[in-house]
Amino acid sequence: MGYAVANLARREPAIEVDFALIGHQESWRAAADILAVLRGGELTALPDDEIKDILPWIPPRTVCHVDIESRAGGNARGLYIDCFIPPDRLEAAYVHENLARVRAAASCAIKSGAKIVSLGGFSSILIEGNFDQLPEKHNTVFTTGNTLTVGFIVQGIKKMCALEERNLRNATLLIIGATGDVGSGCARCLAPVVKRVLLNARNIERLRRVATELEAEGVEGELSTDLQRFPTQADIVICAASLGCPSLLLDRIAPHALVCDAGYPKNLSPNAGLVGATVFFGGLGQIAGGLSFTPDFFGILNRHPFPNVVHGCLLEGMALALEGRFEPFSKGRGFITPKRVAEIETIAARHGIHLAPFSNADGPLERQFEYQTQSSRGWVARHVRPPSERT
Ligand SMILES: NC(=O)c1ccc[n+]([C@@H]2O[C@H](COP(=O)([O-])OP(=O)(O)OC[C@H]3O[C@@H](n4cnc5c(N)ncnc54)[C@H](OP(=O)(O)O)[C@@H]3O)[C@@H](O)[C@H]2O)c1
Repeated sequence: MGYAVANLARREPAIEVDFALIGHQESWRAAADILAVLRGGELTALPDDEIKDILPWIPPRTVCHVDIESRAGGNARGLYIDCFIPPDRLEAAYVHENLARVRAAASCAIKSGAKIVSLGGFSSILIEGNFDQLPEKHNTVFTTGNTLTVGFIVQGIKKMCALEERNLRNATLLIIGATGDVGSGCARCLAPVVKRVLLNARNIERLRRVATELEAEGVEGELSTDLQRFPTQADIVICAASLGCPSLLLDRIAPHALVCDAGYPKNLSPNAGLVGATVFFGGLGQIAGGLSFTPDFFGILNRHPFPNVVHGCLLEGMALALEGRFEPFSKGRGFITPKRVAEIETIAARHGIHLAPFSNADGPLERQFEYQTQSSRGWVARHVRPPSERT
């Protein structure tokens, strides 16, 4: 075991670092693939049980360099730093251990001189968006990246509704994880344009606070800590709960509902009763100008059926780096507004960072996005079925 860890090549950046991305893997397969590259291709792949033994002992560290190109000209260089949180240790029982990992990853980013750092997945959840929990930052700023994530979730819902000929204004929208940073941001953006909202999370007081805020904007809705208790069935669902593993069952939604799973790890259980529903992964964007990793982690760090697709939380730091805006754009919890979403979307779009083509666990939902062409709208939905064609 010690042998494998000792052989992980350490690459210190010798160049200016515009951005750093802090992340962790949502599956053992993904973690194993990263270790395989770090150990060097010529070594025999480690068996799964050995990976599970090794991973908890690997300290957070820089895994690769990341280069991105802007559509407006220019580029930015960064690092990907993995916290190496074992995929089965995201639960609350490991919070102290995981917090220490996030802090150590943040130290790596600060030492590298990164100007801006995006906190991916649970790394921002663990510190609750409170950057005071991170080490002394010198000239490095942090962002949770959640504002651009909300932007891509909302864009995805609107685009999918248009493709499927659904009327958003007549829809009942269910948000799971509605009191979270991402969930409440989605609620602020979408509640005013749907007929009714259903808010779900475990803490009733926090749910009441979000509902009160929406009510003041004239939004009608219901809240419940129990998904079974909503009297109304939802026809659009956003899953944005911080679940340690894909365990959400959705058995009381409308037939043919539209479901956006924005969780990392994914929220939806493989056993969720979703026959007839359209499910897509949300919060993802695509870099039209190009993305590369050194050493080559293509398809390992970005495990999506389309090229150059990255989670919105990481893309936010990249977009801000391309823009030269080194500021903590998203911080805290519950402050994401439609205005801030529009601002970060504009910055991202200027550099060719757009909503990713749709996919889910079964693969692409659309024809390959021709991302080399000028327009982000140069692609066509193929097997998103309009209601008239559904059985
Ligand atoms: N796609 C992307 O690019 C992207 C980017 C950022 C974040 N994310 C993911 O989005 C999710 C939310 O992130 P966040 O930053 O908004 O986290 P957060 O602020 O910690 O909010 C988490 C929300 O989930 C709720 N929750 C937790 N366990 C639940 C359960 N068992 N049932 C129902 N609700 C539950 C929490 O409320 P209670 O504690 O009251 O239940 C809270 O409303 C995470 O999976 C995160 O990794 C994805």
